[in-house]
Order: sequence, then structure tokens, then C-alpha cells
Amino acid sequence: MVLSFLLLSVLSISGSVLAQSSSGYTDSGNGFVFQGYTDPVYDVTYGLVFPPLVTTGTNSTEFIGEIVAPIGAQWIGLSLGGAMLDSLLLVAWPNINSVVFSSRYTTAYTGPIITSLPSTTVNSTHWKWVFRCQNCTSWQGGSINLGGSSALAWAYSNVAVNDPSDPQSSFQEHTDFGFFGENFAAAHSSNYNNYLNGDPGTTSSVPTSTSTVVSSTTTLTSPTTTATPYDYIVVGAGPGGIIAADRLSEAGKKVLLLERGGPSTGETGGTYDAVWAEGTNLTKFDIPGLFESMFTDSNPWYWCKDITVFAGCLLGGGTSINGALYWLPQDSDFSTSVGWPSSWGNHQPYTNKMAARLPSTDHPSTDGLRYLEQSATVTAQLLNGQGYRNITINDDPNSKDHSYGNSAFDFINGKRGGPVATYLQTALARSNFVYKDHTLVSNVVRNGSQITGVQTNDSSLGPNGVVPLTPNGRVILSAGSYGSPRILFQSGIGPADMIALVEGSPTAAANLPPSSQYIDLPVGYNVSDNPSINFVFTHPSIDAYDNWADVWTDPRPADAVQYLKDQSGVFAGASPKLNFWRSYTGTDDKQRWMQGTVRPGASAVNTTYAYNDSQIFTITTYLSQGVTSRGRIGINAALTGLPLVNPWFTDPVDKSTLITALNDIVSNINTVPGLTLITPDNQTTITDYVNSYDPGSLDSNHWVGSNSIGSVVDSNTKVFSTNNLFVVDASIIPSLPTGNPHGTLMSAAEQAAAKILALAGGP
Ligand SMILES: Cc1cc2nc3c(=O)[nH]c(=O)nc-3n(C[C@H](O)[C@H](O)[C@H](O)COP(=O)(O)OP(=O)(O)OC[C@H]3O[C@@H](n4cnc5c(N)ncnc54)[C@H](O)[C@@H]3O)c2cc1C
Ligand SMILES: *[C@@H]1O[C@H](CO)[C@@H](O)[C@H](O)[C@H]1NC(C)=O
Ligand SMILES: *[C@@H]1O[C@H](CO)[C@@H](O)[C@H](O)[C@H]1NC(C)=O
Ligand SMILES: *[C@@H]1O[C@H](CO)[C@@H](O)[C@H](O)[C@H]1NC(C)=O
Ligand SMILES: *[C@@H]1O[C@H](CO)[C@@H](O)[C@H](O)[C@H]1NC(C)=O
Ligand SMILES: *[C@@H]1O[C@H](CO)[C@@H](O)[C@H](O)[C@H]1NC(C)=O
Ligand SMILES: *[C@@H]1O[C@H](CO)[C@@H](O)[C@H](O)[C@H]1NC(C)=O
Ligand SMILES: *[C@@H]1O[C@H](CO)[C@@H](O)[C@H](O)[C@H]1NC(C)=O
Ligand SMILES: *[C@@H]1O[C@H](CO)[C@@H](O)[C@H](O)[C@H]1NC(C)=O
Ligand SMILES: *[C@@H]1O[C@H](CO)[C@@H](O)[C@H](O)[C@H]1NC(C)=O
Ligand SMILES: *[C@@H]1O[C@H](CO)[C@@H](O)[C@H](O)[C@H]1NC(C)=O
Ligand SMILES: *[C@@H]1O[C@H](CO)[C@@H](O)[C@H](O)[C@H]1NC(C)=O
Repeated sequence: MVLSFLLLSVLSISGSVLAQSSSGYTDSGNGFVFQGYTDPVYDVTYGLVFPPLVTTGTNSTEFIGEIVAPIGAQWIGLSLGGAMLDSLLLVAWPNINSVVFSSRYTTAYTGPIITSLPSTTVNSTHWKWVFRCQNCTSWQGGSINLGGSSALAWAYSNVAVNDPSDPQSSFQEHTDFGFFGENFAAAHSSNYNNYLNGDPGTTSSVPTSTSTVVSSTTTLTSPTTTATPYDYIVVGAGPGGIIAADRLSEAGKKVLLLERGGPSTGETGGTYDAVWAEGTNLTKFDIPGLFESMFTDSNPWYWCKDITVFAGCLLGGGTSINGALYWLPQDSDFSTSVGWPSSWGNHQPYTNKMAARLPSTDHPSTDGLRYLEQSATVTAQLLNGQGYRNITINDDPNSKDHSYGNSAFDFINGKRGGPVATYLQTALARSNFVYKDHTLVSNVVRNGSQITGVQTNDSSLGPNGVVPLTPNGRVILSAGSYGSPRILFQSGIGPADMIALVEGSPTAAANLPPSSQYIDLPVGYNVSDNPSINFVFTHPSIDAYDNWADVWTDPRPADAVQYLKDQSGVFAGASPKLNFWRSYTGTDDKQRWMQGTVRPGASAVNTTYAYNDSQIFTITTYLSQGVTSRGRIGINAALTGLPLVNPWFTDPVDKSTLITALNDIVSNINTVPGLTLITPDNQTTITDYVNSYDPGSLDSNHWVGSNSIGSVVDSNTKVFSTNNLFVVDASIIPSLPTGNPHGTLMSAAEQAAAKILALAGGP
């Protein structure tokens, strides 16, 4: 596994003597201008681009790189130090539809922080890895000469690595290797920051080393700005923040809602339209049938680029990009046994308020009909044989054992509804409510336990971008399960190891309070997310809808026409068609709930025998309320939000309970004629399938608990040891509810807003 080119130190090759030298080129896919080289034998392109050099301060230690390789390249290595023994090496290979990568330094190595950028692609002919490499310009024993040129080494292999899904996989000797001279001096671009945002910027010529000089000592002082103070500043316009801001402004408080992203649905000014829907106000975020295309878009700008799991960074947060499965909570979702304080048990008045503002529907098409129902019908046949009943799920929220029903959503009039179409609209109509988008909050400004304002990146909102509070004013963080912890860390609140990472970032460190004012709370601990496992089936009755592959660019014409006419038909619904639940008692005597979600199509098929891909459908089985496994989330040195400890199956009883549930689902498969389980296939036991499941694929995007009520916030959702800082979002939920969480979260946001308004000492 040690590459032999790492052992070539004796060769002592320098960039200047190499025949093959880099030159500038523009990647026509993402528009970035790289300095790089295409090896003529294997037709692999290697490119690098760096931030501008500076004359004062510290030169940046990061770059954006890309490797574009024909699909026959099983893995590629790039050595940043050229032919030297102690050199930083990047390796990458394709795995199904993604590129897997790691850095190595003779062995596995953790100094660099490497993030794949959205223009990374795998298609039928090539794989392309576009990545940001931070802390990558020096390593033990070597460094890049940012103002000069030197040799880089590459390695090519036509033999696959041993475990393509594992970034740390071992691999055999490379097939070939070589060198080229990289002109680092010519690889600096003033568009670098645009590139990080997926934007090629304006310069189309080859970058030069005489790019803009940025002084890191520049401050954004604008002494003439007079800032407007607010009673409540709410950070983040996801479901938690929108509901809190609406209820607080309804009570007459002066409220500012800040959102880092921009518009989403057409009603909010969004314009991201499919070609077939151009000029209609029906954006990607409006049309329910485009949900699956969120994951296959060639430029998915709406995901947060500084969080390593899926999170929406646009108005509406997760509710603008999610499947919109919407469940009224069952009573036990707010019980003390799942971690809520007893004062939260009476959720019904708040759930009722939510349902009145935001009704659910299990037939979202405006003509009242259901479309593409075959997978629901087939699964209902299967479940009927297991003693399940068909119910209207949200008419009977407490019936979650042996029950199924047609999937329910918070779509309205055949379009995405959610809090953006409802609560936000009433807030916007009030003169005491201000909404400001494209505004990033890094931290709260505080004097000990008293919060005095929030630090934004917009100096038009106040001196240095600080927005102040009125005398008894309060701040509410609603930036999501990853976003709110990051703001707390940057405010000196959280575990010492996380605050230490903030101290390591020159810009963020400058905004920390004195260390004597740090507040030690378990921010990021005790998180949970549903572990989920997919089964893929075929049945002759199924229309797999071409696996949703063409809905964005080339939809079935009749369905597109029907939807544009009156928001009816297939496109008025998202992919899920049926949901079901069952209660289990684990070997530890604890009760756990299982949820199933059924949809036509499949994200991955792994089978040894032939199947008809027009007839595939998926049952995703989640373990929900009662899950005992816990993980930890946090940040890395780049302040990127990420799981530090994965929250799935840390308790083996969670795994054994889910395996029992999976076996039950297919126990009577032979009673449904034509129904075939293809993944796992009949050569693979369910236990083996679960045991070898890619851990990352267990992720259900339902993260809760990083600011658990009782641990980080008190029963009024106020952050412990502060006077006037609150959190209202998924992070306060102490453990997973029975179904997909945003219904429970919105009921909790209603209840939190009421408790905050009732709490003495406020504005
Ligand atoms: C792909 C996917 C599918 C899902 N499907 C479903 C489903 O079908 N049903 C369901 O119930 N749940 C689903 N979920 C989960 C659900 O969407 C989330 O639980 C919910 O959105 C969490 O709401 P929140 O208010 O906590 O945070 P978010 O929805 O994440 O909102 C946070 C908001 O804050 C903004 N923000 C973050 N940081 C800052 C900052 N520093 N400054 C300013 N603004 C900031 C963000 O841009 C965002 O708008 C899904 C989630 C994903 C990712
Ligand atoms: C950068 O990498 C070096 C190893 O080259 C490591 O020691 C150091 O901790 C890293 N710095 C950060 C901030 O991650
Ligand atoms: C596949 O990707 C490569 C590299 O990004 C690109 O050049 C090529 O045009 C793509 N091919 C197809 C069929 O999309
Ligand atoms: C940044 O790097 C260039 C090239 O090595 C060098 O000339 C310049 O002095 C460096 N800037 C600082 C502030 O060290
Ligand atoms: C789109 O929505 C905006 C805002 O609601 C409205 O002003 C505009 O007229 C709408 N356009 C169309 C084509 O419906
Ligand atoms: C469940 O029952 C309702 C009402 O009778 C019916 O409309 C629906 O089709 C049934 N659902 C399934 C999946 O059989
Ligand atoms: C603040 O950050 C947001 C989100 O990253 C960005 O869209 C906006 O342009 C930034 N504003 C300024 C003034 O830099
Ligand atoms: C911080 O608060 C203390 C009292 O808690 C007060 O004495 C001090 O003046 C405050 N400092 C600032 C800068 O407001
Ligand atoms: C995690 O949750 C458990 C159970 O609710 C609790 O006992 C424990 O104190 C929590 N730990 C932290 C660090 O919050
Ligand atoms: C496909 O299934 C086989 C048999 O279970 C397993 O060994 C293999 O790892 C799976 N491949 C992927 C990519 O999941
Ligand atoms: C595959 O399924 C589709 C849809 O049911 C059907 O039209 C087609 O004939 C099937 N193909 C084969 C080879 O059976
Ligand atoms: C496995 O499934 C395939 C496809 O249904 C079938 O042809 C084969 O006979 C099965 N093998 C066994 C051992 O059941």
C-alpha cells in the first residue's frame, strides 16, 4: 500500500528539469481556471488553484484541486511534494456515484482538511474529483513553494482498491506513475472565494501571481452606521426560526429574522426553475415531484457547503429541500421517558395550533386523486398479512403500532407549503417584523451571561456588522442541529475542545469573549439520528418512474403539462407513497419504534441476478422513538460542521431490533405474487446485509439533540448560564420522535415561543 514513487527520493527531481509542465486551463464543467497538466497516456488531468498571495499577514494554506480521470482509472494518487519520501499524498477513486478520497503520509494522515466540492461528478465515461484542501501547503518534512514551481507526482492504477466505500481502504501497487512541473506562482486566482461557492467569477483568463492583495488586518469599521436594536433577534429561517419569529411578532415584539441563504419558493422570490417550468413561479422548491432531484442536481447550491451532511442553506432551511413527510406527534414523543421535562408533556394545544396553521394532506394533487400508487398497494398487501391496519395517519397520531397509511405531507395546493408558505407570510405582513437574508451570523456578542447582540457579516446592519438588542432583548438561535452549535462554539459556549478550534481560527478567535467568560456545556453531545436501511424490491405492477432520473431535465411530457396546468398529477407529490409503523421490545426490554417509508425507484441496487429496473421500489426502514444510540457532532479546524462520533448502532440492541424488524417485513413475501427482494439478494442474509451496510448510508438527515433540553438549554429553551440566549430548532429535541421529525419540531417551536413569551424579564 505504500506507493513506490514515495520511495524514489534518490531521484531528486526538480520542477525546472521536467519536460512536462503545467499550464492554465478552464474546466468547462465548473468554469474554474486551474494551473495543471493532462497526462497524455492515461488522459488524466490534474489541476490546482490557490487563493491570492498576500504581502502582509499570512499566506493562505489551502487550495482547490481537481482530478479528472476516465472511468477506467480505478484509483489515482497525487503527491504534493513530488518525488520525496515524506510527502503529502492525496488518493481518490470512484464509488458508485461519488468519489471517495483520503490523504496519506506514508500511512493514513489527518493534518489536511479535505472537502469535496459540488462539481465533483461521476458519469458513464469519467469521474471528476473537485476538492478543497485546507492546511495542505506544508507537512512534516516539506511544503509547497507558493511563489515558485516544483514537481508533483501522480500515480495511476487500473486495479480497484480493496474496499471502494472506505476512504482508508488499502490498495495494491499502482500501474504507473509520473511527474510534471507545477507552476505554483501562476496558480493564484482572485476568484478563489467565488470558486468555493461554486461560482466561476468574472475572470476567464489564466490567473497570475499578481492578483489582488488582501490585507488580513482590514476591519469593516463603518462609524456612521446607526444600528436598529430589536427585542428578539432570531438566527436562521428554518421551521424553528420561522415559527418562533412569527409568534413573537404576533405578540407585538420587534423581531429581526436573519437567514444566511436566499429565496427558495417562487412566492419568496426564488427563480431556480426546471427548464420545463421556466417563467412560471414554480421553482425546484415548489414542485413536490422534484424532491428526488435535490440529490442529483449538477449544481446543488442550496446545500450548506460548510456542513458535511445534508442541510438546507436557504429560506425555509430543511423544509425547502426535504421530502415534506409531516406527522403530528404521538403523545409519547413529548414524554419524560424520551427526555422532555414534565412541563412539556401537554403538547396538544401547540400541536393543534400548528395543525390549524399548517394542515397535512395524504393526497396532495389538486384534483384529489393519488398518483404512482403501485408501491403503496403492493406493500399494503404485504403488511396486511402481518396484521397491519390501513389508517389516515394524522387522524390518529397515537396509533403507530401495526398501522400504515398513505404518506402525509405539508404540501398546499399541489406545491411545497410548510412554514414558508404559512407562518412566514403572516410575519412578513407585520410592520414590527424584519426579514433579512444573505446574512451570516457567526456568534453572539456577550458580556458574561448577558447577550448584547449578534455578530453578522453585514456592516449595513450595525457597526462592524453587530446588531444590538433593546434593553431586555433576547437572541434565539434557530440555525439547525449543526448551525446552532457552531454559533455557540464561536460565542465561547461549549466543550473546551470545540472552543479551542475556534481559538485556532484567526477571524473567529477575534470574536470570542475572554476565556474567563467561557461557558462549559455539552453542546454537540447526545445527538441521535434514525439508523435506516433500504430494501429494494421488484414487482410487475410497479412504475419506477425511471428512478426519478429525468424529472428535472426531461420529464414525461404529459405529467409536466398536467402539473403546470393546475398543479395536479405525479409532480404534485414527492417520492414517498406509504408509511408504516410497529412497536418492538428489544432484548434490553426497552420499547423502540420502527417506521417504514415506501417509494418507487431506488438509490442503489446491489444484486447478483438480473432484474427489470423499470419495476424497482424501495422500503426504507428506520428505527425511531426509543433509539438508544448516541453520537457527537462538532466542528473541525476549518469550522466545518460534522459528525465527530456517528450516532447509529453504538448500542447493539438498536441494531438487533432493526434486524428483527427487517426480517418481519419480508417474512410473508411469498404470499405476494411477483414480489422479489433484490437488495439484499437471496445469496445475502439480512444480518450480513446490515452488518456490511455503509455506515454513512445509515444517515436519515434527522439530526436532533445537539443542544438537548435539560443539558444545554433549560425547560424554557434558555441556554444554561446565560440570561437571554435561547435555542429553538431541532437541536433542543432530546431524542428522536416516532416519525420524520419536522412535525414534532414545529409543535415544539410553538410551545417554545409560548414559554419564552411567558418568561419574566423579557422585552
Ligand atoms: C434531505 C433531507 C430530507 C428530509 N426529509 C424530511 C421529511 O420528509 N420529513 C421531516 O419531518 N423531516 C425531514 N428532514 C428533516 C427536517 O428537514 C429537519 O429536521 C428540519 O428542517 C430542522 O429544522 P431546523 O429549524 O432545526 O433547522 P434547519 O431546517 O436546518 O434550518 C436552519 C436555518 O438556519 C440557517 N442558518 C444556519 N446557520 C446560520 C447562520 N450562522 N447565520 C444565519 N443563518 C443560518 C440555514 O440556512 C437554515 O435556513 C429532512 C432533512 C433533509 C436534510
Ligand atoms: C495542519 O497539519 C499539521 C500536520 O501537517 C498538523 O500537525 C496540524 O495540527 C494541522 N493544523 C490544523 C489547524 O489542523
Ligand atoms: C463526463 O464527465 C466528463 C468530465 O467531467 C466530461 O468531460 C464529459 O463530457 C462527461 N460525459 C457525459 C456523457 O456527460
Ligand atoms: C506569500 O508567499 C509569497 C510567495 O512565497 C511570498 O513572496 C510572500 O512574501 C508571502 N507573504 C507573506 C506575507 O509572507
Ligand atoms: C410570481 O410571484 C411573484 C411574487 O408573488 C409575483 O409578483 C409574480 O407576478 C408571479 N409571477 C407569475 C408569472 O406568476
Ligand atoms: C387505505 O384506505 C383508504 C380509505 O379507504 C384508501 O383510499 C387507500 O387507498 C388505502 N390505502 C392503501 C395503501 O391501500
Ligand atoms: C454574508 O454571508 C452570506 C452567506 O454566506 C453571503 O451570501 C453574503 O454575501 C455575505 N455578505 C457580505 C456582506 O459579505
Ligand atoms: C459587563 O457587565 C458587568 C456587570 O455584570 C459590568 O460591570 C460591565 O460594565 C459590563 N461591561 C461592559 C463592557 O458592558
Ligand atoms: C446524555 O443523555 C443522557 C440520557 O438522557 C443523560 O443522562 C446524559 O447526562 C446526557 N449527557 C450529556 C453530555 O448531555
Ligand atoms: C454488494 O453485496 C455484496 C454481498 O452482500 C457485498 O459483499 C458487497 O460489499 C456489496 N457491494 C456494495 C458496493 O455495497
Ligand atoms: C420491464 O418492465 C417494464 C414495465 O413494467 C415492462 O414494460 C418491460 O416489458 C419489462 N422488460 C422486460 C425485459 O421484462
Ligand atoms: C434467487 O433469486 C433468483 C431471482 O428470483 C432466482 O432465480 C433464484 O432461483 C434464487 N435462488 C435461490 C437459491 O433461491
